[in-house]
Amino acid sequence: MTTLIDYRLDGQVALIGLDRPPVNALGQPLRAALAEAFEQAIGDAQVCALVIYGQGRAFSAGADISEFGSPAAFATPDLASLLSRLADSPKPVVAAIAGVALGGGLETALACGYRIGTASATLGLPETRIGLLPGAGGTQRLPRLIGAEAALEMILSGESVSASQALALGLIDRLVADGDDVLAAATDFARTLLDESAPAQRAWRYSDPAQGLPASFFEDYAAARSRRWKGQLAPVLALEAVRAACAGSLEEGLAREQVLFKQVESSAQSAALRHQFFAQREALKISGVSKDIALRPVDHVAVIGAGTMGGGIAMNFANAGIPVTLLELKGEALDRGLMHIRKNYESSVKRGKLTVQQLEARMALITGTLEYADIANVDLVIEAVFESLAIKQSVFCTLDKVCKAGVILATNTSTLDVDLIAAVTRRPQDVIGLHFFSPANIMKLLEVVRGRETSAQVLATTLHLARRTDKIAVVSGVCFGFIGNRMLEPYAREAHRLVLEGATPAQVDGVLTELGLAMGVLSMYDLAGIDVGYLVRESRREAIAHDASYFKLADELYAHGHYGQKTGRGFYRYEGRERIEDYEVVACSEVLANELGIARRVISNDEIHDRCLFMLINEGVQLLDEGIAERSGDIDLVWINGYGFPAWLGGPMHYAEQMGLSRVLAGIEHYREQLGDYGQMWFQAAPLLQRLVAAHQTRIQRL
Ligand code: CAA
Repeated sequence: MTTLIDYRLDGQVALIGLDRPPVNALGQPLRAALAEAFEQAIGDAQVCALVIYGQGRAFSAGADISEFGSPAAFATPDLASLLSRLADSPKPVVAAIAGVALGGGLETALACGYRIGTASATLGLPETRIGLLPGAGGTQRLPRLIGAEAALEMILSGESVSASQALALGLIDRLVADGDDVLAAATDFARTLLDESAPAQRAWRYSDPAQGLPASFFEDYAAARSRRWKGQLAPVLALEAVRAACAGSLEEGLAREQVLFKQVESSAQSAALRHQFFAQREALKISGVSKDIALRPVDHVAVIGAGTMGGGIAMNFANAGIPVTLLELKGEALDRGLMHIRKNYESSVKRGKLTVQQLEARMALITGTLEYADIANVDLVIEAVFESLAIKQSVFCTLDKVCKAGVILATNTSTLDVDLIAAVTRRPQDVIGLHFFSPANIMKLLEVVRGRETSAQVLATTLHLARRTDKIAVVSGVCFGFIGNRMLEPYAREAHRLVLEGATPAQVDGVLTELGLAMGVLSMYDLAGIDVGYLVRESRREAIAHDASYFKLADELYAHGHYGQKTGRGFYRYEGRERIEDYEVVACSEVLANELGIARRVISNDEIHDRCLFMLINEGVQLLDEGIAERSGDIDLVWINGYGFPAWLGGPMHYAEQMGLSRVLAGIEHYREQLGDYGQMWFQAAPLLQRLVAAHQTRIQRL
């Protein structure tokens, strides 16, 4: 027997322990070892029942995701066939679940005749999150066990259920208290089954999983989610697989599931989502930061500034159970900030996302103050005041004076030089950028900006804290705008300029949303505020002075007080939340184009796509070359989690790889020639992109 399985006999019961750290992913070697152990137990006359369990912290996290997209994913024994064999066992098999049973891990448990779980176990089928569907019987066995409606919800939400929920659903047979020996409990259970001459397999609880559901159930379910699923393959095919479970025999359903599974497995969307899964984990591995570094304790946080951003940051920590002190200069501003936080929580209560008790518990974790002395002993301070270097530096001077040694001092700047802020303190090693995205209590992304002198310990502590508060952290070096906002500049530049050249805002945004972006860039500027964009440009007029023509329209909107959604007009008109095309904006672009000598013409959707996307990608490649981003996957994470880039396209860098780097380079060179002086000025291919294409590389990496 291989070391991947711990095989032992306890009397008549064979104990089969999956032993492939860290999470018992069911790659080919483990599948082969499990098949061998299973056959050994079945062939052993002394063995009357089997228990399958997981060594370490998981029962199993499912199939080995790294195998997908390669022949290894279906190499013998493939998981579906192995589990069908398990499900036909002539001897009772008990799955003993401690930790997680996810994806193929839960499907393994479903193929066992009986299941028990510890109170802290979690069970789920998260495959659709990585563009797959449960492909080892999950879409067929789960509906037969808990009914089609509950099964569909688990499969399409991808959310795990707790062991007690699993018990209520009938997904497990018994609950084992945490602290009790789950293996001993499973062995006892197996003995009881033998004593009672229980069958190796029971009849399914639902012979018709759709029993009691309306005939239009599946259509209605899909129709209600059509917007959320737009453009995505996995949820649609997962639903089809569950529908198949309600339409024929188990064998027929399993065969249909296999066909659908292979379709999603070979899709570009799943490749993109799997790329994102691994990128998220890679992003936490930072050069120069050892895994074993001792972290600083962070038990109390302070946030400076009770505006929208500061309030959202405070909520982020309170939501994770971490006490926060919120500091403002004036009582009124503080009261307004605290009231706004309460209102936010109240609206969560109204939507049924939070109980009143939870609201009060979270509010109790947030304390307001007007005194810096009250934050002298906190472990982390996050400054979220107005985006001005002078103001931020003055806050940091004060923090340096009042805060205890060992505190982490963070700035929430979205563009400014973290090193210049750190330089006003006597402890630049303790200073870091923590760039939250608005609303900070909701948005997943946290750009962690590593200053020139930020210590490895401070970096490691903040990355750990990001996980505690359920954020996706990406480390960026210092430059204007860091990874996200620096890339936004050329992307937005093309959008603005295309409107001057003849496209309408709705056409530009339409191309981007059609691609899958949550929002077009011009709508995004309307949402963020045309005035905010103007102020950012004002602080950078020098850098863009050589050609600021492309922002003339936005400057004009600013001059007219059309600040976007908040004033009801910007690139669009707004009636309530409805966005309406504004023909005055088109007329204004015509006048401006005339003044600037820009010839207006019909712009194709392809041109909009290529100019916006290729410039975005080009800047990302340049950031990688400069070392601002450590990996191209980091850039993808920033754009997926902070800027609404569709996860199923894998982020801009992955998307570029899918399109082909030579196509991107050729597009940039084409527009460099075609767009005259403007093209010569802005369409400069990143040297790394040129090197990668010359070297026939298909992946974006340093060279
Ligand atoms: N395959 C391959 N590697 C996996 C994996 C999997 N299913 N699950 C986790 N890992 C790896 C991670 O990449 C990570 O590796 P590194 O340490 O090298 O970075 C390591 O295991 C630990 O993972 P986390 O850092 O995520 O640890 P965690 O404790 O925070 O979370 C977890 C553990 C909840 C299991 C989380 O890793 C997770 O959600 N994993 C994915 C679960 C999943 O999607 N399963 C479905 C697989 S597809 C399938 O099963 C198809 C099918 O129907 C047959």
